[in-house]
Parts: sequence; C-alpha cells; structure tokens
Amino acid sequence: MTGGHNHGGNMKVEKKGLHDSLQDQIKILADRNGKDIIGRLKNANLYQNDSDISYDPHTILKLAYLNYYLGIFLRIAGKGKKDGRFDKLIFIDAFGGGGLVGIANTNHSILGSTLLAATAIASGNTFDQVITVEMDEKRSKLISKRCETLKLENVKAINDDINNVVQILPNLCNITPKTIIMLFIDPEGMEPEFSKFIPLTQATSYIDIMLNYTFGVRRLDGRIFYNQSSADIERMKKMIPNYTIGSDPEERLAEYFENEFGKPKVRQVKIHSKGNIEKYSMVLRVRRTINNSEWLKAMNSFGDFISSIDGLYALKTLEIVMGGQTTLF
Ligand SMILES: C[S@@+](CC[C@H](N)C(=O)[O-])C[C@H]1O[C@@H](n2cnc3c(N)ncnc32)[C@H](O)[C@@H]1O
Repeated sequence: MTGGHNHGGNMKVEKKGLHDSLQDQIKILADRNGKDIIGRLKNANLYQNDSDISYDPHTILKLAYLNYYLGIFLRIAGKGKKDGRFDKLIFIDAFGGGGLVGIANTNHSILGSTLLAATAIASGNTFDQVITVEMDEKRSKLISKRCETLKLENVKAINDDINNVVQILPNLCNITPKTIIMLFIDPEGMEPEFSKFIPLTQATSYIDIMLNYTFGVRRLDGRIFYNQSSADIERMKKMIPNYTIGSDPEERLAEYFENEFGKPKVRQVKIHSKGNIEKYSMVLRVRRTINNSEWLKAMNSFGDFISSIDGLYALKTLEIVMGGQTTLF
C-alpha cells in the first residue's frame, strides 16, 4: 500500500458503516430479522394494545443504542462465563414497560427494552435471566403475557415501584460477586431514587448501567434557583441524594455514581427528536476493566453517530426497514 489517506473518503466509508449499523439495529427493533416475534404476538392478539406506551420517533434511537450495547455486553460477558469468570448474565429493566413501544402518529410498534434483552443473542450468548419491573399493572400484565406467549422463560416480570423492590433484587436473583449485570434505567422523568439502588450495585462489581437522563433535572434545577422551594429540593434529592442548591445536578449525579457505584462514565449520548430537538441523554457506565477496549471504541463511535441523528431520520429508516418507503428523503 502506498501511504497517504484520503480522510474525506474514509469518513464517508465510516459514516456509511455507522448508518448500516443503525439500520441493522432498527431491523431488530422492527423484528425484521427472522425471529417472528411480532407475528406470534399478533396471532395471540397481543400486538398493539391500549396500555402500550407510545413515544415520538427518537425512541427508535434510544432503543437502537441500547440494543447495540446488548450485543457488545453479551459477547464480552458470554465469553467471561465460558472462561468461568462469571456465573450468570442478568439484565435488569428497572422501568420495563409492556414489551412493545408504539411510535406516535404512525401505525408502527417496535420491540421495547425487555423483549429486546430477552430475545438478544450475540455469539451464541443470551441472558440467563431478565428481570423487568413495571409499576403500571396493565402494562406489567402485558409483558408477562407476551413473554409467556413467546415462551421466554428467562423473564421475570415484577409489578411494583422499582424504588420499593430494587433492594430485594440481589436475593431474588441470587446475585453473587461473580454475577454480571446490565442494569437499564429508563424512566420517563425523575422517578429513580438512586440511594435505593446501592445494595444492587454493591452486590457484584460486574454491573454496567445505562441511564436515560432526563432534561427534567435541568428544569427542576432552574426552578429551585428561583424559588428555593423545599418540596422541589426534596424531589431533586430523591433522585440525586448529594444535590445541594447551586450545585450542578449533572455533576453531582456523576459524582454519586462514581463514588457510590464506582462506575466511570463512558459517554453521554444525546437523543434528538424530529427537528433535532434534544429530548434526553443516555449515560452509560461500565466496569473499569473494559475501559479502552475495542468494544468501547465501537460503542463510542456508534453513540456519537446516534447523537448526530434527527428523530425524523430514525423514523424514515424504520419505514424503509418496514418496507413502506424506499428512499431516505
Ligand atoms: C420510558 S418507559 C419505559 C420503556 C421501556 N424501557 C421500553 O423500552 O419499552 C417508563 C416506564 O416506567 C414505568 N414506571 C414509572 N415509574 C415507575 C416506577 N417507580 N417503578 C417502576 N416502573 C415505573 C412507566 O409506567 C413506564 O411504563
């Protein structure tokens, strides 16, 4: 090979690679990869349901990012299990939902986090157990029925407030110091009370955390700045226990995760809705030992790509995958 890179050219190739990766992920979300999950749910009359949540298309980006990491996680953790370093692989979906997520103002529904995790397979590895906690009774029943229909025996659905049950999960799941966990925290707002998560995060040192970080925190912080209302401060402290007035809640939360959970931050990936409006960000924290690995580099470039995408582009890609449209714009 002669030297000299055409950087513009390389970038194009890389961009195309990332777009293809996104499209591959969206195929999985849309169940267009041969698993026939949606078909089987349709047959059992468990496809779209009034109790399903539906969100704008940026949800596609959130779930594509999650699913991309599921693949990485299962590959690394599965190898560790074969080597005897880990005893089992567990996915904990703290705000589990009902299994399917509708895309608002379209007739599309895609697989939600619990079904993605429960059906994920990478290099032959799967989760030994998927725990999904959902406070809404109807939605919780739906995920149970859907998993039953799909014969996903590795799923345990719990109908409760995660803040009340997270403490019992180490016992319930028989977590040992050799158990490897992926914890997905996907609230709509500021529901998680992180101090309650400590027994879980301390039950094993092998726990990765992916958090949907709401911009509601910033709004609440702004309000506190003006009104100093003790109710608002209480609310903030429930989610971010070490918050103090005037401090940056995002920094405080990062500090809390670092100190209490011992998890460095990998990336903050912004999720944009139609019109490139920032909706929230996804924060990934992983055990230190996988820092600087090749996997992490792949995750970072995919995350940067997700951050650069408009929700509308995600919707168009979904439509292409569904077969309803043939060109992006
Ligand atoms: C953003 S949605 C989760 C979507 C889900 N991760 C998916 O991909 O399908 C948040 C869910 O958390 C539930 N929820 C809200 N507060 C909760 C709590 N304290 N404990 C458990 N579930 C809660 C809501 O009913 C809602 O279904």
